Amino acid sequence: MSRLIALSSYANLQQELDQRKATGSVRSRRLLQSMQGAHIRVDGRDVLSFCSNDYLGLAAHPAIIAAVKRGADTSGAGSGASHLITGHHQYHQQLEQSLADFVRLPQALLFSTGYMANIGAVTALMGRDDAVFADKLNHASLNDAVVLSRAEFKRYPHQDMQALEKLLAASKARRKLVLVDAVFSMDGDIAPVPELLSLCEKYDAWLMLDDAHGFGVLGAEGRGVLQHFKVQSPRIIYMATLGKAAGVAGAFVAGENTLIEYLLQNARTYIYTTASPPFLSAGLLASLSIMAQESGRRERLLTLITSLRSGLSDCRWKLEDSPTPIQPLIVGSNEDALKASEQLLQRGILVPAIRPPTVPKGTARLRISLSAAHSLDDVSMLVDALREIC
Ligand SMILES: Cc1ncc(COP(=O)(O)O)c(C=O)c1O
Repeated sequence: MSRLIALSSYANLQQELDQRKATGSVRSRRLLQSMQGAHIRVDGRDVLSFCSNDYLGLAAHPAIIAAVKRGADTSGAGSGASHLITGHHQYHQQLEQSLADFVRLPQALLFSTGYMANIGAVTALMGRDDAVFADKLNHASLNDAVVLSRAEFKRYPHQDMQALEKLLAASKARRKLVLVDAVFSMDGDIAPVPELLSLCEKYDAWLMLDDAHGFGVLGAEGRGVLQHFKVQSPRIIYMATLGKAAGVAGAFVAGENTLIEYLLQNARTYIYTTASPPFLSAGLLASLSIMAQESGRRERLLTLITSLRSGLSDCRWKLEDSPTPIQPLIVGSNEDALKASEQLLQRGILVPAIRPPTVPKGTARLRISLSAAHSLDDVSMLVDALREIC
């Protein structure tokens, strides 16, 4: 009997999978057979890649790899326990201090991933009597965090400050939190942080910024969105990930000492999980010092962004208005986006087609992601191929 029930459940799953296939929305994985970078080997083939979030080209940096190896030699392969038991290694501690200094906030708390940082922070701070105000294009991890927190979930149209103000003005919630991607992951545009902050001040709300795609990239010294806008406020809860521009893995939340101590006591994704291997923190310490010292990487990125945008300015498909390394080329239908991605691949260039539900219906796109590891010639190759295809 139970086997029969199991079989009928599988039939339902298969039906859903078939439906995905019919609508061109099946996702599949490519097999990476090299280090991450501009030129990679995937599925047995060498390609020029515009697919990673390795914006500064640090994922394969020899000094970071060496620091990871040295870190493993002195701290071992794994942490062996959660942070609050015996897993909190001196590398973690040093990294938290360096991250707080880097973003110029009083204190930071390290999480194993950005997904866990968002879930942990939002669920610790918000509950049933509270309300979260979120941009409709926020990352999935932020949306999941709000649902898990059981707070009232109020979403406003992308970047619409008037709509946000109306929602804030009407709210009677105990605690209010405005929650946004600082750089939108599928669009590349930057949240208007000064305007968001003044609304938060007016309506007594916190502002949580997910700077996954701005940390290391934005600001004169790569310190992220706060440096970009030159803003600081005790209302700000800053979160950034360490697997993108920083080239390794992990994430952190930074802000006032009381906030961080509260998260340490209450964030379940911090407390009830094994601490990340300390050698990752050793690698991240090396990564942070490269990010601080090598401003040339950010300058190269800006040159590449300008070159791509001017090369595609008269293309039938339009680039979103993005000043960041995320440069989405809107194609429209799922089929056309997949076809364009396939045609690029035939020319040895890898650019992912991003489709609903990750992006709104009818806005399937090629998500071109630039890295300081690219050369101007790499970008010219992409521009020529795209002009031919579109
Ligand atoms: C905006 C944003 N927030 C959070 C995350 C999750 O970070 P992580 O990959 O470290 O879990 C991502 C992507 O991965 C992201 O794009």
